[in-house]
Amino acid sequence: MDKFVVRGGNPLLGTIRVSGAKNAALPAMAAAILTDEPVILEGIPQVRDIETTRQLLAAMGAEVELGYGRAHHRTTICCRDLTSPEASYELVKTMRASTLVLGPLVARMGRARVSLPGGCAIGARPIDLHIKGLERLGAKITQEHGYIEATADRLRGGQIVFEKITVTGTEDLLMAATLADGETIMQNCAREPEVADLADLLNKMGAKIEGAGTPTIRVQGVEQLHGTKHRVIPDRIEAGTFIVAGALTGGDLNVSGCEPKHLTALLQKLGDTGVTVLQSTDAVRVIANGPLRACDVITEEYPGFPTDMQAQYMALATQASGTSVITENIFENRFMHAQELVRMGANIKIEGSRAVVRGKTELSAAAVQASDLRASASLVLAALVAEGETIIDRVYHIDRGYEHIEEKLRNVGAQIRRIGEILPKRAVPAVRA
Ligand code: UD1
Repeated sequence: MDKFVVRGGNPLLGTIRVSGAKNAALPAMAAAILTDEPVILEGIPQVRDIETTRQLLAAMGAEVELGYGRAHHRTTICCRDLTSPEASYELVKTMRASTLVLGPLVARMGRARVSLPGGCAIGARPIDLHIKGLERLGAKITQEHGYIEATADRLRGGQIVFEKITVTGTEDLLMAATLADGETIMQNCAREPEVADLADLLNKMGAKIEGAGTPTIRVQGVEQLHGTKHRVIPDRIEAGTFIVAGALTGGDLNVSGCEPKHLTALLQKLGDTGVTVLQSTDAVRVIANGPLRACDVITEEYPGFPTDMQAQYMALATQASGTSVITENIFENRFMHAQELVRMGANIKIEGSRAVVRGKTELSAAAVQASDLRASASLVLAALVAEGETIIDRVYHIDRGYEHIEEKLRNVGAQIRRIGEILPKRAVPAVRA
């Protein structure tokens, strides 16, 4: 199992480039199910969740070409001959976003069989809202042997009011509604930029969607969709992770190829902590040349502070003077990184959905374990300022969503490398500067 070895102490200096958004690429790949023509997607990040989605589509009979190069990260997906409209437990258990195929499959094939995701490291993550929404569109849903089966001759437009805001739920039903008979009005939708990006793609495929990116989305169903080419938006969470890394290490870091307007809540918060943030059209420069001040954070749906940045912000809070109260509103049990940060010397108390971080604490290297994708990123960030050499185990979590993070960080001065072998107990190799 791969590990990262990180020696802390270097400020991050220079320019780091952001990849395409994993959370936009996943629904975009699922959207290819809606047509029998090829869909070409660019800006696809080279991360494990994309490979899982490739396997998922290929298992259904789709032709999926996936190639990475200097100029293009591109996939061409052709779902002309879908033979098996199914998402197996083996794949869904490793990536909950596999449920994104549910809506497109039932809309295009009239049938979908998708494994229930089961428990997840960051709390129970049900899909009841996807199911209720599909029922509103006329699908018949049954559950058997841990699988959801949805059938419909043709979905029909309907009114969907989400009881709770859900990102992939909004995306799943948006895709389903494109091929439904008549108009669908969805209310209390997620407003995340990835939802709007998916709607852009679907409209290029011939769908008739209005209002994506706002709480109310209207979809006029069409008979069929066609192929197209689309570039996914930059990854705002990867960008945010690097921006926090720059701030935390006392660096001067230019995060390029991002969309600063997708990062407003984070950038405002960093400004409050005393960091200088300079924005241009597609880059954010973060300059941290003074002490950090503690600031409270509450995670919210977009445009609020993203839950996917909570763990990284917690690493930053350990280096800020004063008490930061971090409230996690979106997921239960999303503080698993806190205990690992405590092992590195942080002062963090968990009180239900709040984490109280008292800083500034000197962090010292320890052997720590990644527990989920964003938690692993927070451990990398903490290790960048810890004294000594931190070994982070289970970095497969980080590989799910960050493209070559160690190379990118190394290029701006971090001392980080990946090791694949089990280390002998007392002979930890030194990191090269
Ligand atoms: C997406 C993102 C993930 C991010 C999350 C919240 C992708 C692939 N993943 O996950 O990175 O952390 O949004 O911004 O885009 N819920 C229900 N019933 C449902 C669906 C969700 O109760 O049917 C609850 C969840 O348990 C959670 C909340 O709604 O408490 C929000 O979850 P949701 O927005 O659906 O997260 P994902 O779409 O899975």
